[in-house]
Amino acid sequence: MARHLITSALPYINGIKHLGNMVGSMLPADVYSRYLRQRGHEVLYICATDEHGTPAELAAKEQGLPVDEFCAQAHDAQKAVYDGFALAFDYFGRSSSEQNVEITQHFARRLNENGFIEERAIRQVYSPTDGRFLPDRYVEGTCPHCGYDKARGDQCENCTRVLDPTDLINPRSAISGSTDLEVRETKHLFLLQSKLQHEVEEWVAAHEEEWPQLAASIARKWLNEGLHDRAITRDLDWGVPVPSDTWPDLAAEGKVFYVWFDAPIEYIGATKEWSDLDPENRDWKSWWYDVDTDVRYTEFMAKDNVPFHTVMFPATELGVREPWKKVDYVKAFNWLTYYGGKFSTSQKRGVFTDQALDILPADYWRYFLIANAPESDDSSFTWEHFTATVNKDLADTLGNFVNRVLSFSKKRFGEEVPAGGEPGEAEAKLGEEIARLLAEYESQMEALQFRKAAAALRALWSAGNSYLEEKAPWLEIKTDKDGAALTLRTAMNLIHLYAVVSEPFIPATSAAMRQAFALKDDTATWITADEARTLTALTPGIPFTVPPVLFAKLTDEDLETYKERFGGGPTA
Ligand code: MF3
Ligand code: ZN
Repeated sequence: MARHLITSALPYINGIKHLGNMVGSMLPADVYSRYLRQRGHEVLYICATDEHGTPAELAAKEQGLPVDEFCAQAHDAQKAVYDGFALAFDYFGRSSSEQNVEITQHFARRLNENGFIEERAIRQVYSPTDGRFLPDRYVEGTCPHCGYDKARGDQCENCTRVLDPTDLINPRSAISGSTDLEVRETKHLFLLQSKLQHEVEEWVAAHEEEWPQLAASIARKWLNEGLHDRAITRDLDWGVPVPSDTWPDLAAEGKVFYVWFDAPIEYIGATKEWSDLDPENRDWKSWWYDVDTDVRYTEFMAKDNVPFHTVMFPATELGVREPWKKVDYVKAFNWLTYYGGKFSTSQKRGVFTDQALDILPADYWRYFLIANAPESDDSSFTWEHFTATVNKDLADTLGNFVNRVLSFSKKRFGEEVPAGGEPGEAEAKLGEEIARLLAEYESQMEALQFRKAAAALRALWSAGNSYLEEKAPWLEIKTDKDGAALTLRTAMNLIHLYAVVSEPFIPATSAAMRQAFALKDDTATWITADEARTLTALTPGIPFTVPPVLFAKLTDEDLETYKERFGGGPTA
């Protein structure tokens, strides 16, 4: 059994995320982690809020809170939503933690000692009114490329071009609105990524064949464009301070590291946060330091994050010249769209994670989102597709099966798994089919092909329905009571199997299915394809209860309500 280190891209602190954000990072990472745990692997799933940078300061200002208080609250608010989605992180940390400060500063010192950091003077926008430099989003103005008049200093939202604050026409301060701006010279630290180009190329070359094409092609594209030296400090109040022992002048000026420098380091930082809570039993270094062969590290992220994880963070780790664990497998996702358009926070289009949980329990979302994950292409969320999928797969195929079998059996045979006939041809055929589908499900999970894994799971549920239709115990019972008992007992064994193997997708429903049978050992250990073939784990006499309806069917009225509340399309 391997040790699996799993991380998902750190959600930014500035607000509750929408469904598109979760489906390309935390949710599939959770599904994968749960699966590996069930298969007996040692798993450490780490995530955290990404708390530094101008968006955090601006969001805090909007709420009239000091930025540290804002972040503390916003962290808890996001964590509560993820708990609601049953995301089973081993630890959900904060990039502003002292552990991350310590490790980030250590990385910077080492990079400096190794000749990969240089101080350079650059020209930056300064606002006398605000008494400070205005990095990135602190400057707004007109885009020099497309003329959009609300372009931000780091990027134009309209034409998506990357900008420098000094590029903007008619610039103004995003803090005070002041247009009395000047350009002043100031010093910053630059990470000399160009010096690491060759090493990163070699490292990528050694890994990209194993990566999915999306991740490999983005990494290649960045390497082909060449790695540029880039500023890794900013003039902000909130961030990891530049250490004064190494850079007394910059530290005195209050410079902090750029958010994209410290954020990936927080994968390590958060592991140390976890470990520091119980140092006797948790060893963060055993996951990250000098462990190349026994730990397998898998990262989950959307495609915009790929350059940072396949090129820039590895460049940092390589430049540190210490044996820090680097990623083995990069699972990258395309975009989930809302009716083919962008989910948009500012235009209130699409569904936010907290709103989703207001409407329906997590399992509905977890299943739908993973079954339609934007894996090989962008995929589109529509309420029509969502309600149809819930009704067909969850309510009809799985939920109805469970309910039908258990309530009919209870009515005719009482509240215990019925005794009766011995398995025959139909059961043998079913067993073969289940074993085949389960093997397919396992191999798709292991290949991190989530849509295909969901399809295999759905096929397992369907196989139960076909068996039930074929045997029709409600007719069988009129002529062959033992035969009907066998059918129901076999179907109950399927329910038990579903409870176990559906756990990564729908953990709450799985628990409800397991609890229906008062089994002593109801932990979710795996059922192998061979064990599944015989479908006899539940023996006659085991008591059961009929769980409440597992999935409610969504009506046309529900559909209309959702569309009205959230907008029925990108332009609606
Ligand atoms: N917060 C970033 C985003 O939302 C992701 C950071 S991932 C990390 O795009 F590795 F840098 F932490
Ligand atoms: Zn533009």
